[in-house]
Amino acid sequence: MAFYLWLLGVVWTSFAQADVEPYYASADYDKGEFGPWPLQSYKSSSLVGPVVNYLFRAEECNKDGKYTFITPRGYSVPQAGPLILDKHGSLVWTKGYGPSYDFNVQRYKGENYLTFWVGNDDLVGHGSGSYYMLDSSYKEAYKVSGANGKAADLHEFRIIHENTAVLTLYNVLPANLSSMGGPENGYIWDSGFQELNIETGEAIFEWWASAYFGYDEAYRGIEGEGEEKNTAWDYFHINSVDKDQDGNYLISSRYMNCLTYINGTSGDIIWKLGGKHNMFVDLSGGAATNISWQHDARFQKNDTAITLFDNASRGSDGFSVGDGTSEEYSSRGLYLDIDKTNLTVKVRYTYWNPRGITSISQGSVQLLEDDRVIVGYGINAAWTEYTLDGQVLCDVHFGPESGFGTKDIVSYRASRHAWVGKPKTLPDIAVHDHKIYVSWNGATEVADWVLEGAKTKMSTAEYHVIVSQPKDGFETVILVPENPSYRFIRARGLDRSGYFLGHTKVMAENGPLEMKIGLYGATIIIQTVDTSDLS
Ligand SMILES: *[C@@H]1O[C@H](CO)[C@@H](O)[C@H](O)[C@H]1NC(C)=O
Ligand SMILES: *[C@@H]1O[C@H](CO)[C@@H](O)[C@H](O)[C@H]1NC(C)=O
Ligand SMILES: *[C@@H]1O[C@H](CO)[C@@H](O)[C@H](O)[C@H]1NC(C)=O
Ligand SMILES: *[C@@H]1O[C@H](CO)[C@@H](O)[C@H](O)[C@H]1NC(C)=O
Ligand SMILES: *[C@@H]1O[C@H](CO)[C@@H](O)[C@H](O)[C@H]1NC(C)=O
Ligand SMILES: *[C@@H]1O[C@H](CO)[C@@H](O)[C@H](O)[C@H]1NC(C)=O
Repeated sequence: MAFYLWLLGVVWTSFAQADVEPYYASADYDKGEFGPWPLQSYKSSSLVGPVVNYLFRAEECNKDGKYTFITPRGYSVPQAGPLILDKHGSLVWTKGYGPSYDFNVQRYKGENYLTFWVGNDDLVGHGSGSYYMLDSSYKEAYKVSGANGKAADLHEFRIIHENTAVLTLYNVLPANLSSMGGPENGYIWDSGFQELNIETGEAIFEWWASAYFGYDEAYRGIEGEGEEKNTAWDYFHINSVDKDQDGNYLISSRYMNCLTYINGTSGDIIWKLGGKHNMFVDLSGGAATNISWQHDARFQKNDTAITLFDNASRGSDGFSVGDGTSEEYSSRGLYLDIDKTNLTVKVRYTYWNPRGITSISQGSVQLLEDDRVIVGYGINAAWTEYTLDGQVLCDVHFGPESGFGTKDIVSYRASRHAWVGKPKTLPDIAVHDHKIYVSWNGATEVADWVLEGAKTKMSTAEYHVIVSQPKDGFETVILVPENPSYRFIRARGLDRSGYFLGHTKVMAENGPLEMKIGLYGATIIIQTVDTSDLS
């Protein structure tokens, strides 16, 4: 009887608002008026999603409708982990893996994988952990660490030619630091990388900076480090690796202020760009080689260009957000034309953040196939999309500007990718205030939610369509038309072609009574019917 009263209470009006809309140029957001990390929660899921602030969004912003990949972590992030947002800023997928880094979609042997690092990141700016490779159903298909018992560092995991992986490594070594004013029996954090066979975990190539770089090439002093093993001096700080078509590697060293091109056979240094032993003629009068504390250097355009994120901060506090006019104080994305043979370099494009963000650590530059450029601001919760020649198409904060530099919300890199996710979980459903809430963490292909009703909860029950509603953001809200004849409901997810993807458990007035598990393209395979109170 109670049930019929419940249904009579349902009002048949227009569809309800689903996800919270993003903010547009909200000064209050950036002042922190909505909290240190504006979040939204959902009825059908215990996950939380960020609410972003679009400072600027041109029509052309993310015209391909791809997803944005970030890894929020920090003092204001209750559950750190990799996180995917759609073109409207709505949550698509997240999972509480803990502090995660370097979240990407990469191709391996013809399939796309989510790749990201998880581990202990409490090691003076580098990490000890592993890289996960999740397939399109979010199954952990591979977990990759360094070969020869080495942990994987958090900075880089790059799949080369859909076949092998390069990743960064750190290792403590005894070192005579007397030439630097340090102890004779001191310690350094050496920096290195390996190229690995993903299937076997065996190293194909391994390289360590200490064999090639003197301590006096570092721009960072000992600063009290180096006395003990656990305070080893981080003198090189590798933070990216790439490999070109000639089979040689390009690495970035934060503390040497330089990029180094390494022979892929012998490990010998072929050239250095920037730093104390720069070998390039700078056709831009110093603007291409004066890089400092830079990140994410990679070859582009058939190895005729390099993109990178350059701190280039000459600000005193390193945290300040500028007024948008003092370019020399802000971080910049760089697109450099390089001639690998004649060793000339020229700045072709510079990506200046409209707010003049200065990022003292982390950051990324991604050049997309359609010549869009995504710059992530690392320690500051922002990303900006540019045209190739540096015009801003959108400027997005995923945490308030008042928290920039405080490590409240940090994402090591930000990237943009297409992604098809087909989770093996059931979609989630909740009934609240006479509305049905449906979500499905990671399911990118649902176009419509179809609410269905049955008169009984028998396994043979016949379900009838009550209402169909386009999926809207992470959580879709469906208002149920008054229809006392259906006592049991469920929601079924359909793709753009009307193909069945999966359905939720069955709900009655007091919650779930019956479990059904749907499979892609198949009908129901398991049915668990609660027969204890059939009436
Ligand atoms: C350490 O290096 C200094 C030169 O920088 C050298 O004079 C000294 O002999 C070295 N000590 C050891 C133990 O090798
Ligand atoms: C790389 O090293 C190999 C082996 O020593 C050598 O044959 C080759 O010429 C080197 N390549 C470059 C570009 O220096
Ligand atoms: C490098 O040069 C460019 C162009 O002159 C300038 O904007 C930038 O601030 C410089 N960076 C540093 C670290 O001096
Ligand atoms: C890329 O460069 C290599 C030589 O470095 C050349 O053989 C190849 O044709 C180039 N490809 C394209 C698409 O320009
Ligand atoms: C490199 O320099 C030589 C000599 O100046 C010139 O002939 C050659 O065209 C240059 N190579 C490229 C790729 O510009
Ligand atoms: C940024 O780069 C400048 C050199 O231009 C350096 O002095 C400063 O320490 C760097 N900031 C940080 C903390 O990364």
